[in-house]
Amino acid sequence: MDDSSTLHVQKHVEFIKSLDNKKDLESLLTEHIRMNGAYWGLTALDLMGSLNDLDQDKIISWILQCQHDCGGFGGNIGHDPHILYTLSAVQILALYDKLAVLDSSKIASYITGLQQNDGSFYGDEWGEIDTRFSYGAICCLALLRRLDAINLEKAITYIVSCKNFDGGFGSTPGGESHAGQIFCCVAALAIAGSLHYVDKDLLGWWLCERQVKSGGLNGRPEKLPDVCYSWWVLSSLAILDRVHWIDRESLKTFILDCQDIENGGISDRPDDAVDVFHTYFGVAGLSLLEYPGLKHIDPAYALPVNVVKRVFS
Ligand code: FPP
Ligand code: ZN
Repeated sequence: MDDSSTLHVQKHVEFIKSLDNKKDLESLLTEHIRMNGAYWGLTALDLMGSLNDLDQDKIISWILQCQHDCGGFGGNIGHDPHILYTLSAVQILALYDKLAVLDSSKIASYITGLQQNDGSFYGDEWGEIDTRFSYGAICCLALLRRLDAINLEKAITYIVSCKNFDGGFGSTPGGESHAGQIFCCVAALAIAGSLHYVDKDLLGWWLCERQVKSGGLNGRPEKLPDVCYSWWVLSSLAILDRVHWIDRESLKTFILDCQDIENGGISDRPDDAVDVFHTYFGVAGLSLLEYPGLKHIDPAYALPVNVVKRVFS
């Protein structure tokens, strides 16, 4: 049997666990986004049934040390708060069924303070605006059951104002359609119960056009395929109930071809260097394709389905 015909679960689990104590150049370069890295690694571990292989108490204590007085979380201890690190922190606590340790009002008030008059969100105090931050705000507050803390109607209006003629969405009004932003907008609208603003057939068509000859998906026309788009594109198609519009078998083969079968981990394209970001999105993509043995992932919350069910039970 060809070695890349199956998912090497144990190798990937070991690869992610090895990142926990790494002190090499690569970890130094990514130190400032450690909260995102922890979310990617831990969610991948959970999908592969190995969440408890790492020390939960140590991780939760580290997360709490990343929180600032304003309520937002930084990417690491002593780093500035940002909505995207705050989302990752809340998602990790949801994985561990430990949302109760958080002061949800404090986090909600941090997010309230980032919303602008037009409904958009700053990512942090520096004032960049992007639909990634709208998703961050809506997903985070939904998990905390505090969507009442923002003007949701305005937030939805802003996201809809970023919709393009091709059915896709950009980072700001008039911005080019990009599969990453489409995930953010479609998932935020799904969480907010406002999917009726999406042109499902038009956008479904644009999304399935992202599949290239190798079976992989790209994020925009004329771009190379990349494993992370197995998530950004496929999760959007899953929310629109149109996963069957792509060739699922050839996408599965493309993701499996991106594994490092010796040392574990998944890369963006076959034979490139692996990293935790692409390892997570490869595993998450395979989960959406119902790969045997993986937990199912919720395409809007980007968390295992059982975790989302537990949060809202
Ligand atoms: C592509 O990035 C991806 C995006 C623009 C979407 C990012 C979304 C978030 C950070 C929200 C949180 C996400 C989850 C799953 C909880 P890129 O910079 O790699 O794009 P490129 O391929 O064009 O370089
Ligand atoms: Zn990528």
